[in-house]
Amino acid sequence: MITLTPLDEAALARLLEAAVAGADPLEVMPPVDGPPGWTPTRREAFLAFHRARSLNPATAVERTWVIDADGTAVGAARLEPHGDAVEAGIWLSRDARGRGIGKQVTALLLAEARKSGAARFIASTTAGNHGARALLSGTGAALTAEGDEVAAELRLGGAAAAGRE
Ligand SMILES: CC(C)(COP(=O)(O)OP(=O)(O)OC[C@H]1O[C@@H](n2cnc3c(N)ncnc32)[C@H](O)[C@@H]1OP(=O)(O)O)[C@@H](O)C(=O)NCCC(=O)NCCS
Repeated sequence: MITLTPLDEAALARLLEAAVAGADPLEVMPPVDGPPGWTPTRREAFLAFHRARSLNPATAVERTWVIDADGTAVGAARLEPHGDAVEAGIWLSRDARGRGIGKQVTALLLAEARKSGAARFIASTTAGNHGARALLSGTGAALTAEGDEVAAELRLGGAAAAGRE
């Protein structure tokens, strides 16, 4: 069963394990200088990244969830408010890809986005990311390409869309 667990320190430790075991650092966080791979510096940067973006109320900009498959962390999902929109993001560890998990997580994220009252669900990916593009078109979102960037937008008809705050 696929569930979303709100990020906390315990979930973050599990998430780092999943990232180290099955993802490239560049797939899951901004670039960090130094030799390739999951160096101690990069592991620390991964923790600092999520603490700053989600866990520390003074600096948080997004909600993050650990994606659990039958209780094991296999990736992360996030929603970041931008005005009347929420931007979604997902990554899965390699073993978890291509098994329909992304589709289930996208549905769960959409439900959270609707609950938040956002008017629009947005996401961006790259032209070569066929999995992400398929997930986004599957929601009914409109995809527009500009160079290598692909932007997706789906109107949700939430409270903000109806002019109710
Ligand atoms: C992108 C990602 C989240 C997709 O999740 P997933 O669980 O692998 O995707 P699913 O198995 O749910 O498949 C969803 C759809 O994408 C298609 N798909 C998945 N991977 C694909 C691939 N590599 N090439 C082409 N189509 C692909 C599936 O066929 C399915 O299509 P359908 O709805 O027509 O049946 C996942 O592969 C991932 O984490 N990749 C690495 C990180 C990343 O790129 N994140 C997104 C950044 S924008």
